[in-house]
Amino acid sequence: MFAVHLMAFYFSKLKEDQIKKVDRFLYHMRLSDDTLLDIMRRFRAEMEKGLAKDTNPTAAVKMLPTFVRAIPDGSENGEFLSLDLGGSKFRVLKVQVAEEGKRHVQMESQFYPTPNEIIRGNGTELFEYVADCLADFMKTKDLKHKKLPLGLTFSFPCRQTKLEEGVLLSWTKKFKARGVQDTDVVSRLTKAMRRHKDMDVDILAVVNDTVGTMMTCAYDDPYCEVGVIIGTGTNACYMEDMSNIDLVEGDEGRMCINTEWGAFGDDEALEDIRTEFDRELDLGSLNPGKQMFEKMISGLYLGELVRLILLKMAKAGLLFGGEKSSALHTKGKIETRHVAAMEKYKEGLANTREILVDLGLEPSEADCIAVQHVCTIVSFRSANLCAAALAAILTRLRENKKVERLRTTVGVDGTLYKIHPQYPKRLHKVVRKLVPSCDVRFLLSESGSTKGAAMVTAVASRVQAQRKQIDKVLALFRLTREQLVDVQAKMRAELEYGLKKKSHGLATVRMLPTYVCGLPDGTEKGKFLALDLGGTNFRVLLVKIRSGRRSVRMYNKIFAIPLEIMQGTGEELFDHIVQCIADFLDYMGLKGASLPLGFTFSFPCRQMSIDKGTLIGWTKGFKATDCEGEDVVDMLREAIKRRNEFDLDIVAVVNDTVGTMMTCGYEDPNCEIGLIAGTGSNMCYMEDMRNIEMVEGDEGKMCINTEWGGFGDNGCIDDIRTRYDMEVDEGSLNPGKQRYEKMTSGMYLGEIVRQILIDLTKQGLLFRGQISERLRTRGIFETKFLSQIESFSRILQETLKELAPRCDVTFMLSEDGSGKGAALITAVAKRLQQARKEN
Ligand code: BG6
Ligand code: GLC
Ligand code: GLC
Repeated sequence: MFAVHLMAFYFSKLKEDQIKKVDRFLYHMRLSDDTLLDIMRRFRAEMEKGLAKDTNPTAAVKMLPTFVRAIPDGSENGEFLSLDLGGSKFRVLKVQVAEEGKRHVQMESQFYPTPNEIIRGNGTELFEYVADCLADFMKTKDLKHKKLPLGLTFSFPCRQTKLEEGVLLSWTKKFKARGVQDTDVVSRLTKAMRRHKDMDVDILAVVNDTVGTMMTCAYDDPYCEVGVIIGTGTNACYMEDMSNIDLVEGDEGRMCINTEWGAFGDDEALEDIRTEFDRELDLGSLNPGKQMFEKMISGLYLGELVRLILLKMAKAGLLFGGEKSSALHTKGKIETRHVAAMEKYKEGLANTREILVDLGLEPSEADCIAVQHVCTIVSFRSANLCAAALAAILTRLRENKKVERLRTTVGVDGTLYKIHPQYPKRLHKVVRKLVPSCDVRFLLSESGSTKGAAMVTAVASRVQAQRKQIDKVLALFRLTREQLVDVQAKMRAELEYGLKKKSHGLATVRMLPTYVCGLPDGTEKGKFLALDLGGTNFRVLLVKIRSGRRSVRMYNKIFAIPLEIMQGTGEELFDHIVQCIADFLDYMGLKGASLPLGFTFSFPCRQMSIDKGTLIGWTKGFKATDCEGEDVVDMLREAIKRRNEFDLDIVAVVNDTVGTMMTCGYEDPNCEIGLIAGTGSNMCYMEDMRNIEMVEGDEGKMCINTEWGGFGDNGCIDDIRTRYDMEVDEGSLNPGKQRYEKMTSGMYLGEIVRQILIDLTKQGLLFRGQISERLRTRGIFETKFLSQIESFSRILQETLKELAPRCDVTFMLSEDGSGKGAALITAVAKRLQQARKEN
């Protein structure tokens, strides 16, 4: 009994001594909580550096966008091929995702060796070898006749600009094939596959193993938004807010970032914690100076670190009685699996002895205890460092989400994590200590990263198929040069038809004479009122024109015209207009003033003189009763009379195109075309009088309001109208009318987009097939959304140049709207009126 106690005492004393000895020797490898918190802070700063555009080029931690935007939602399905290259094992797989609507994944796989002469040889040969393995796999699985999409798990740092591209930044771990760095591995592999004529494989996605792992785990646990690998190498990815990713356009949603945390410290940020062993290991590695953090953590290096320490201790006489074996001198003789075996709970010491004996050493009991403790310190440091960086990621996630507590899942994989008996629980414990505000679940990826890679590929292949269908719909809107030339010729014919006396009455492009015969000459002066009705806003303006200096001062007020007035009775509409004028005069302190007025009325009017205009028909959003066929100047006069508060001298009624041409013509006398691309679409231009058969006289020019919005009302452009245009037309206030306007102007573009969205949704190509109530609402998709998306004016100018190469056209934006032009026309008319009176 006593002997047993004595033995136990002896043993625990021995153990204590050995542990103390090793602790003293490896003092520098033991990291305090404060140090870990400090490393966590440093890593947070590194992440920010990598994410920001300015600092990314010099950042050690590259924070690579992966173009994976969502975790799986269960709707993924199909049959895929998958390659998994870069971990400890190279695998080729066939993955069947979700059969018969069930969340279920079936995999068949085959491992292939990766001999050093292949992974450190010539790059082209490496890809040819990979393609050969794939071909072999397809042959054995009888898949050669099938066209299958492929997802490539490629576990090295790659710069991506899309899912199906990955430019290798540098090899890490055991790989070092020549001529691959800075090339796209997808193209390289695609090229290598072409040698197999009987293989038809399309690489749709390349993902890092961290991403594959995260996606694999997320398929089972939707909380999973982080992927960590602690294997041959180490790395992590997580879902970052798009608004924080400077390197990718767009602010909506999230994207997975491959941190490449293995490179943390490559800019010497970790020098204070690196030891002489880390430095020695680095010097003997394939990539000296690189992957500093990885070299303190991952499976490829832990065994080697232990070996270097044991050698030094032996040399110092602290182990094996100072004896060293040649195996102990040999690089790579201690591997991570040995470290794991030595740390096994019960058999650990026995394993240690066996391993040391295999290394040609003769260990004492004390040596075994000491060596086991060396392993513990090295692997504990690894888990601690991993925990610190992971804690930084979790804190970032929590702050991005602006929550007090974060509930999240981390998907983990890698041999070190899987085979080391203590590693997972040490890691979990330290993470929880470092980030007490996070409830973290660690989920081991049982099936590697390929299931996740297949998920990404499934989404990519669905997106590819959808893209094709969407392209088919959108192709209807892409007009070829031939089509445009045809439209041009037809428009030209219609313009001429509208000018001729015998066809004018029937013309759909009405070519209305405006009785505006010249541009302002700079002698105009005076104070004028102007109205601007028919665009998005109704405005009343006071325009002061000073002669000689071509300078104009304007004051204006915008008024809303409620829908019930736009579509009520004519009397109500004009009463409302007069009410607005009264408000404006009041506001300007001009109550009771009698001023000459120019009326911009942006609808088709038949004019017999400049101050008379009979409304032919409402367009756009107006439909007030009892106006069509009436002179709008008379209607305005009567409304002013009804109010009986002020008197106005209505001198001119002008279309907005004409007002615009005049506004610009005041500054640039070469201006002879006015174009409106607004709520409606229309154009006016200066035509030779002799071509205008409806108006007497052959001298000089007159402005013609083309009313080209009605182009196509006779069916002449039906070949380019789509079913969406028809739909928009049918739902409009004036079905069958203004067909060209409905394909071109602001009031309708948003509606066309809405019709397309509805149709694509019905086809299951958008919004998971769910048409929302809002999407069903007419007018919900305003044209201003479109102008944020597309730059219209550039396209307009470029196409014009192409179709009318002999015209040198300058586009001038009418900053002041057409009110100024209307006032100028009024000024000219007033001057002529005066002259006539005096005569
Ligand atoms: C595997 C994954 O399970 O783990 C690989 O399928 C990954 O994609 C590997 O690279 C990482 O661990 P190790 O230890 O093999 O490098
Ligand atoms: C290395 C690679 C990285 C990979 C990791 C784990 O760090 O650079 O891309 O994720 O190993 O395999
Ligand atoms: C409509 C009108 C037209 C106007 C154009 C732009 O097409 O009919 O007169 O010029 O819209 O506002």
